[in-house]
Amino acid sequence: MTTRLFHISDVHFGAEDRAALDAVARAVADERPDAVVCTGDLTQRAKHAEYARAQEWFASLGVPVVLEPGNHDMPYYNPWERFTDPFRRYNRLRAAVQRRFASDDVVLVPLRTTVRAQTRFPWSDGVIRSAALADTLARLEALKGDPRTIIVTAHHPLLAKEDDRANPTIGGDAAFAAIAAAGAHAVMSGHVHVPFDEIRVRDGRALRMIGAGTLSTRLRHGAPASWRVITCEPGGVVSSELRLVCARAP
Ligand SMILES: [Fe+2]
Repeated sequence: MTTRLFHISDVHFGAEDRAALDAVARAVADERPDAVVCTGDLTQRAKHAEYARAQEWFASLGVPVVLEPGNHDMPYYNPWERFTDPFRRYNRLRAAVQRRFASDDVVLVPLRTTVRAQTRFPWSDGVIRSAALADTLARLEALKGDPRTIIVTAHHPLLAKEDDRANPTIGGDAAFAAIAAAGAHAVMSGHVHVPFDEIRVRDGRALRMIGAGTLSTRLRHGAPASWRVITCEPGGVVSSELRLVCARAP
């Protein structure tokens, strides 16, 4: 048996690409994946109206949904709420639409890379706090000996685009090495709005980094809207198919 995941990211309700969302919803209805996994930036400005649209869309899919928050999902116009309860709106959406996902082939382990504030500006890039990494590593430790494929889900890619560039994700290199050493097979992420799928190495440990593109109108570097179909078998056997949603010429 295999497990099929639709990996989507950066939907940015408020700046969503309706044609791309319709394409994904049609594919979900036709192909019935085992789950839709969204690696963050569900909304554009974390407005209540944007969360309501996100809830409507995710609830309409009719398959298990697994969510991870992104930097856009914390209140932008309400600094008090951002500092006191940054994930309240996200948690409400998650409670409404996330359904338990269990598989004999793959297990998903979250890693929180979004923070309410940081000492640098802008606050959009990732930070992996030691408590967040410890939580992920404890979950990986508990999976020692588990035959399933283990995939970590995070909003921000753990490494820079190239090894000789500064890593915009603070703590990402150390987290990558620790997660690879702890036995994860791959990391699924978003944030950059450009899809990628590559093997990277830190401290002699390899890990596959799979990035979904965006389903919003916030296209970057000429990459069209996209998502991925990720098929998993036990033991780290993962295949990834990129689906592009190219806009028709006017
Ligand atoms: Fe984004």
